[in-house]
Amino acid sequence: MPDASTKRMMAHQPARIVSGQPIDEDARIEASVRPKRLDEYIGQKRVKENIQIAIQAARTRGEALDHVLLYGPPGLGKTTLAQIIANELNVPIKTSAGPLLERKGDLTAILTSLESKEVFFLDEIHRLQPAVEEVLYPAMEDFRVDLIIGQGPGARIHPFPLGHFTLIGATTRAGLITAPLRSRFGIVHRLDFYEPEDLLIILHRSAKILAIEMDEGGAEEIARRCRGTPRVANRLLRRSRDFAEVRAAGRITRAVAQEALAMLGIDENGLDEVDRNLMLALIDKYGGGPVGVSTLAATLSEEEDAIEEMYEPYLMQIGMIDRTPRGRVATPHAYEYFNREQPRRQPRLF
Ligand code: ADE
Repeated sequence: MPDASTKRMMAHQPARIVSGQPIDEDARIEASVRPKRLDEYIGQKRVKENIQIAIQAARTRGEALDHVLLYGPPGLGKTTLAQIIANELNVPIKTSAGPLLERKGDLTAILTSLESKEVFFLDEIHRLQPAVEEVLYPAMEDFRVDLIIGQGPGARIHPFPLGHFTLIGATTRAGLITAPLRSRFGIVHRLDFYEPEDLLIILHRSAKILAIEMDEGGAEEIARRCRGTPRVANRLLRRSRDFAEVRAAGRITRAVAQEALAMLGIDENGLDEVDRNLMLALIDKYGGGPVGVSTLAATLSEEEDAIEEMYEPYLMQIGMIDRTPRGRVATPHAYEYFNREQPRRQPRLF
């Protein structure tokens, strides 16, 4: 199944400016601002420290790094971290993604081409077909693929040894990873939304690399509205630069950033029109919930996956939405934020 960004492309829908999903322009620019070494990677302190130790230990022993699973919302640097790990290990990296591996043979071809200690980065690992995923089990555990030679009753299994590679799996949906797959990763880390201080450092670093003039006030405005997501921060930085060059003196100040982001329909907390429509549908149309994701998705003409992977994690993080077993509910904070009076709930008699 194609992922949310592919589906959007297929449906010719414009990408959201505050989405964590990469858009073409991001890929090009990200390559230039992306940190290459662990000491340039800002934030995610706990993850970074743990990975640093694992890398050092593997290097000292001269062994391949254990398999790594990175999960968390889009745009927080899972791909960047995978590339950094390969750089720090001083090994090559091959990259693919769950939906691209349609047949067992697609995955087998990559696995059998890996050198010893090489990193294989598999993005959207939760979207592997079950039959393809099964190829990974012996590959991860015993560094072996089982090739089937021949057909029908005469078919034979031929075990084929692989180099001791490191799989780095990435997913935005840890809950969709099957238990047998998850249990084969020795190192599992969740990437969290970034703290404002870290986003400020990232923004100044990117501005320097891209030769963008920006003062502290400008950086603070962008850091506050980028949903804790470096990819969004870097995108808003570029849009603010466009605005600064056309409407101001080329320098991103607080006022310039405020105006540029307001023009893009992004409010003080980084919420865009889709977030607002989602929250207002939940509050006004569904009485604050609980309401199922599929109902919300249909109301907004959005994909269910997009709601669960992109919109919801941040709305939950800032305390606007709660997930309950019966569906999504708007929080008292959401009522306050959108200037709505909170309904008095009837006391339950039973
Ligand atoms: N660009 C994107 N993510 C980054 C990070 N964590 N540190 C530095 N630069 C980044």
